[in-house]
Amino acid sequence: MARNLVIGNWKLNGSLAANQELLSGLIAENQSSQVPPSSVEFVVCPPAIYIPQAQTLLNGTSISWGAQDISNESRGAFTGEIATSMLLEFGCRYVLAGHSERRQRFAESSALVASKALAALNSGLIPVVCVGETLHDRESGATFNVISEQLEPLLAQLNPHALKGIVIAYEPLWAIGTGRNADGNTVQEAHAYIRNKLAQVDLASADNVSILYGGSVKAANASEYAAQSDVDGVLVGGASLVITEFLSIGKAFKS
Ligand code: 13P
Repeated sequence: MARNLVIGNWKLNGSLAANQELLSGLIAENQSSQVPPSSVEFVVCPPAIYIPQAQTLLNGTSISWGAQDISNESRGAFTGEIATSMLLEFGCRYVLAGHSERRQRFAESSALVASKALAALNSGLIPVVCVGETLHDRESGATFNVISEQLEPLLAQLNPHALKGIVIAYEPLWAIGTGRNADGNTVQEAHAYIRNKLAQVDLASADNVSILYGGSVKAANASEYAAQSDVDGVLVGGASLVITEFLSIGKAFKS
């Protein structure tokens, strides 16, 4: 069984004061919850410059933190980049790789995303590899081909034993930040397809890989995803910035 993850991707949002309020609220609520924390893991991914703040506030709690992006390089003349070793120094456990906003707006190829994910894995971070189709892809029946092409470069290079160290996030572009969330059946179908692809790498580990859904997830629709057999959590954008929303989403995944 894969573990349930509820990850907040803060994107380009936050300030020292706003983060303090949000994280303090999460910690207070999480500590007072009667449900054992092991049944769902909360993760926040702030803008990189706020990672030390997240570390200070979250250290010793059951909430994890991570980064929104990573360099595939380990050191050298790469202005503006951040290496995996640097994230580890600040206690990060997760890093997103290939979010659609990076693929689209920063022209990240699936080959680059694969090398970022492998750099993360090799250093001991858990990469959350994001895939998903555009509306045009979906309407032209290309959804599975697109997901397959996005995963191929990584799966081709991945040591089968390492499969259990990755997380996949299915985030259809037409559902991100649009308020138009995918329905449970659509998500289940895509997740089952992804799990089947993972099983071709290592049958034994595929069931243990957490596959998350992302795209306009909120408290009001989270239980629809939690009810799907191949949905092991969610990657949340806008609603992760609202304490009550993020916590309610998490509760939907607490077994
Ligand atoms: P929204 O939840 O704001 O649609 O964003 C989804 C997302 O891109 C999370 O990575």
